[in-house]
Amino acid sequence: MVDMLIMVTINGEAKRFSIAPGDLLLDVLRREAYFGVKRGCETGECGACTVLVNGKPINSCLMFGAQAEGTEILTIEGVAPDGKLDPIQTAFLDHGAVQCGFCTPGMILSARALLAGRPDPTEAEVREALAGNFCRCTGYLKPVEAVLAAAQANREAGLSGARTKSGRSRGQARKRQ
Ligand code: FES
Ligand code: FES
Repeated sequence: MVDMLIMVTINGEAKRFSIAPGDLLLDVLRREAYFGVKRGCETGECGACTVLVNGKPINSCLMFGAQAEGTEILTIEGVAPDGKLDPIQTAFLDHGAVQCGFCTPGMILSARALLAGRPDPTEAEVREALAGNFCRCTGYLKPVEAVLAAAQANREAGLSGARTKSGRSRGQARKRQ
């Protein structure tokens, strides 16, 4: 298979990758050592491979790397680039919302996209936003509580709405794939 070049911005850094036309974005990112992008079901069901593409939560196992040309991608590695945790990460820790952590990157990125457009979400909106992220450990109460707490922390810090480009919920984003 003939390789092709793609240019993407990942976590704020311009990157250029040589990929095969059939490579999944999930494969490209993990090959480039973005190991926070988890390989789960590979069928678009579990959300473990979630990244934000132009601010929208996307299952990277359902997107070709070639489709990422020219986009801005955020992985969990880019959420706290200076070592200072995002309020969502802090809230997950404070609320005991992390056990094995396999689902956590995807959940945090989904939550981040939600809070960018919905700084004061209802519990139902948080649940909808996390609906595409399966957790085999905690159930969902604690992650939902954590996202609501992070929303409050963001509002108090004046951070809401400044973090990603999209406020679309997970359900909305998934329907477009
Ligand atoms: S690995 Fe992509 S949705 Fe499960
Ligand atoms: S914390 Fe283990 S799958 Fe969610």
